[in-house]
Amino acid sequence: MDGIAVLADSQGGNTKKIARAIAEELGVVLGDINAPVPDDAKILFLGSGTYSGHTPGDAIMRFIRNGSFAGRRVALFGTAGYENDGQRMIGIMADALEKKGATVIGVNGGRGRLFIIKLGRPHQEDFDGAKAFAREVVGSG
Ligand SMILES: Cc1cc2nc3c(=O)[nH]c(=O)nc-3n(C[C@H](O)[C@H](O)[C@H](O)COP(=O)(O)O)c2cc1C
Repeated sequence: MDGIAVLADSQGGNTKKIARAIAEELGVVLGDINAPVPDDAKILFLGSGTYSGHTPGDAIMRFIRNGSFAGRRVALFGTAGYENDGQRMIGIMADALEKKGATVIGVNGGRGRLFIIKLGRPHQEDFDGAKAFAREVVGSG
């Protein structure tokens, strides 16, 4: 789908698997979080695992710090062991993006879609949820 990019900071691979499911649903290739923001991306799906308490990964925070987000819409997602930590992690990304002029697309009253990783890996329900999230965001215009 034109104008959409999907990127993730995933140190252990869980968030990357979720990101791949989102990208596949939208018919795009997973982007590189260590490259600049793709110029033509009007909607960015950005994801991260939750590390050291409740923080996003270093690579995604660098991506946000260095990128230009004015006029772009961002749909956030994340994975975590714990709901509270993951929601705080998404909040940190959302605050940083809004300061840079992005519009963060809300999801179910929250600021992004969180996947709690049970038994160490994403399960089919997570992939189904990721695909539904992708459709919802794009369908919302
Ligand atoms: C070094 C490390 C620290 C973590 N710290 C937290 C944490 O403080 N809170 C939490 O909810 N999950 C924590 N987790 C769990 C990860 O957020 C979870 O496994 C996530 O899916 C990792 O994403 P990734 O596989 O894409 O790196 C931690 C995982 C690692 C490896």
